[in-house]
Amino acid sequence: MTPLPRRAALLGAASMMGAATISDHGDLPGGSGLNERAMRGNRFYGAAIDHRILAADRPYMAQVVRECGAVTAEAAFKWGAIRPKPGSFDFEHADKLMAFAARHAMMVRGHTLLWHEDNPAWLVDTLTPANAECLLVAHIRTVAGHCRNRVVHWDVANEVLRPEDGKPFGLRDTLWTRAMGPECLDAAFHACAAADPTALRCLNDYGLDYGWDGDERKREAMLALLARLRARGVPVQALGTQAHLDAAIPALSQAKLARFCADVASLGLKIVITELDVRDNQLPADPAVRDAAVASHARAYLDAMLDSPAVLGVLSWGLSDRRTWLNDALPRDDKLPQRPLPLDDQLRRKPMWQAMVDAFAAAPPRA
Ligand code: G3I
Repeated sequence: MTPLPRRAALLGAASMMGAATISDHGDLPGGSGLNERAMRGNRFYGAAIDHRILAADRPYMAQVVRECGAVTAEAAFKWGAIRPKPGSFDFEHADKLMAFAARHAMMVRGHTLLWHEDNPAWLVDTLTPANAECLLVAHIRTVAGHCRNRVVHWDVANEVLRPEDGKPFGLRDTLWTRAMGPECLDAAFHACAAADPTALRCLNDYGLDYGWDGDERKREAMLALLARLRARGVPVQALGTQAHLDAAIPALSQAKLARFCADVASLGLKIVITELDVRDNQLPADPAVRDAAVASHARAYLDAMLDSPAVLGVLSWGLSDRRTWLNDALPRDDKLPQRPLPLDDQLRRKPMWQAMVDAFAAAPPRA
């Protein structure tokens, strides 16, 4: 794959602007942030931002400026946010995030154009084999066209694999695969390439992290799917691996992760760690115990992944424990908030932050 000069320039700019904006926020002690540390090895760091935080939590966003060279939206680029009605597009939250990123010279990841969740009721109710391709292609052309030159990576398709569904190529049984079959992926990637040829086109998924059989099967299915897409001329350029990790799981296999990265790279593809967080819902209550386990788990994962030159960078799904989807989706039995992110709920750097700094420092620099 060709190098990414525009992205490299943008990331270089992000680093320089980051230094300038830190001094604009003189109330922020503590030296250079995660993106600057990642940049030393020619990688980047960023975080997913909820639109309510962008609108209303200035201290949080000041930390985003300090720590991040990239942002994505938890929901603002999805069909659910952009397509409340069939005939119109609402870019309010996406535009606000892209404007914030432009002000701070950060790159933006768009997430996502094809997913089985967070779709408006009108789409779910009206999608048919007859209208699906037209709807999908029109949506992607409009959204990726609107964001052209502002979104630097697109998660074109999200969470497409579920081998246990028994569908061809391990694909998930979704509204899109039911309407279009596996060709929904071909159509989505081609439409994105036509609308914005310069954005890096990613296939994003979860469950690719651990040594156990389920994740091993999913890695195998992902490699076979990526190879098939490449062989058919589908313009996929990178794998996004979400990395929703669990600090209580011992089965992290660095050897399998390294092998997987090498196999993805051998297909000519890049890799982005797109949604890193480390859940602690099965750990004891003591915050120090949880923070140590989360940090060492993140370090072990990043050490294996960042060894691969194909891995361009890391985003976490949120920056601070102040807001994480995990408290809704997987609450702790004791109802304590989880601590899965680099900053705590008071926006202070945690052991996970230090583990990430150390992993960036230990990784071989990318050429
Ligand atoms: O924007 C509306 C708001 O207007 C309304 O008042 C509010 C009422 O609940 O809902 C808001 O929309 C919510 C949206 O997040 C924005 O906050 C949706 O209900 C809610 O379902 C949506 O949840 C997001 C979810 O994906 C579904 O899109 C989570 O924040 C987001 O963290 C989660 O992210 C996913 C990744 O896309 C894929 N990987 C897993 C990850 C976690 O589930």
